[in-house]
Amino acid sequence: MTTVADAKPFHWEYRPEAVARELFRVEGGQPLEGTVTISGAKNAALKLFAAATLTGERCRLTNVPEIEDVRVMADTLRDLGIVVDHPADNVYEIASGDVEWLFVPLEAAAKMRASFILLGPLLARFGRVIISNPGGDRIGRRPVDLHVEAMRALGAEIDYRNGYYFARSPGRLRGGTVRFPFVSVMGTENAMLAATLAEGKTVIQPAAQEPEVDDLIEFLQSMGASVQRTKPDTIEILGQKRLRGADHQVVPDRIETGTFIVAAAVTGGKITLNNAPCDHLGAFLDTVGRVGVDVSCHGDTIEVDGSGLRDGGYKACDIETAPYPGLATDLQPPTAVLLSQANGTSRVHEAVFEDRLEWLTEIRRMGASVEVLDPNHATIDGPSQLVGTEVEIGDLRAGASLILAALAAKGTTTIHGAHHVHRGYENIERKFRDLGASISRTAEGTADTSS
Ligand code: EPU
Repeated sequence: MTTVADAKPFHWEYRPEAVARELFRVEGGQPLEGTVTISGAKNAALKLFAAATLTGERCRLTNVPEIEDVRVMADTLRDLGIVVDHPADNVYEIASGDVEWLFVPLEAAAKMRASFILLGPLLARFGRVIISNPGGDRIGRRPVDLHVEAMRALGAEIDYRNGYYFARSPGRLRGGTVRFPFVSVMGTENAMLAATLAEGKTVIQPAAQEPEVDDLIEFLQSMGASVQRTKPDTIEILGQKRLRGADHQVVPDRIETGTFIVAAAVTGGKITLNNAPCDHLGAFLDTVGRVGVDVSCHGDTIEVDGSGLRDGGYKACDIETAPYPGLATDLQPPTAVLLSQANGTSRVHEAVFEDRLEWLTEIRRMGASVEVLDPNHATIDGPSQLVGTEVEIGDLRAGASLILAALAAKGTTTIHGAHHVHRGYENIERKFRDLGASISRTAEGTADTSS
């Protein structure tokens, strides 16, 4: 029998598209001054797009960040036959009435692991989907076993062949208990999306507590879903036969916010952040406060005064990442840059991911005194005078953090692999330039193309 998946390349046939390589060139040493407006959160927006496939009616999302991952998600949905309109900057409309193709290919998964969030909603609404495994050797070890087990707990049958999950549900999914061995953000979201159209009640525990999960709950509720967070780590869903279209404004990006707070702190600058989610940054603000950065919140405005840097007043601080409400793993790289400017030895424990300290070798090349003890632990001795040099971005958050290090450094830093940063930060170089930074983005091997 020929399946839909046979028509598309399998893992061994896949050739990644050539990426247009870009670099940032940063002239450091300038204290940042001014006001920056924070964009909508990447890790909320991507899941809201997936949620919109739960209904045939039109959904409208505003405050969507204009970033590469959103474009990949929009194109992935269009490839399925879903209408995705982009009537204005930061506004997307999604109409999933006619879906022609219940197949999410490796092309999507290789570009963006978050494409796996389509498993739950497509399976729940259409009863079947074939979806590429975003893990595996080709694109790094990032398992999705918790997502798959969650679908099975809701009655789905799932086989794994040739790099693809073949998922089906003979009738509606059945509500049930989804018990995770540890917290998973997208695992929680996939289970929750699937359960909104299942028959009966689903309980998810432990459920992730990230603000982006609550943003998704809010959108699902306005689509008519019965979803409640009944305890901090428990989400209960009563499945509905159908959901309706809804409008939603994406929650502001707490990781982008943290990135700009560190930018002011390590340049000794003074900036105001608008549309900033102060309430979602408790553990991070506690850390930067202990370091000695002056940060104050007024509604959705945050003021950062980094003059403590010039007074030599930043203090070392031990940090450990954890699921929310702990210190976000996505803020570990920016925080490490801050610690490189603090007096004394700071210990860093990356407890969520195994491969998130490797980038520290790049700031070591810029003069930071860093020792990586094992894949999860490092020490940083500060303060170090960072010095511009050539560095390479390995992933999105490390990339943004190398910009921070370059802004704090003496001289010029050339950062290769700039395209990674555009996966998750809207107009990052323009936002930094508006704060007085000297930063340009250039295609590798060509003259400056930024304006
Ligand atoms: N894990 C498994 N099996 C699974 C799923 C996860 O073992 O089936 C492990 C992971 O390998 C990791 C831990 O569980 O060690 C937690 O991962 P989680 O599932 O919570 O991460 P995620 O949902 O895949 C999201 C964000 C990440 C962010 C993490 C943690 C999106 C699209 N991604 O990933 O964001 O770091 O939660 O907060 O929401 C980023 O934006 O740069 C980014 C990587």
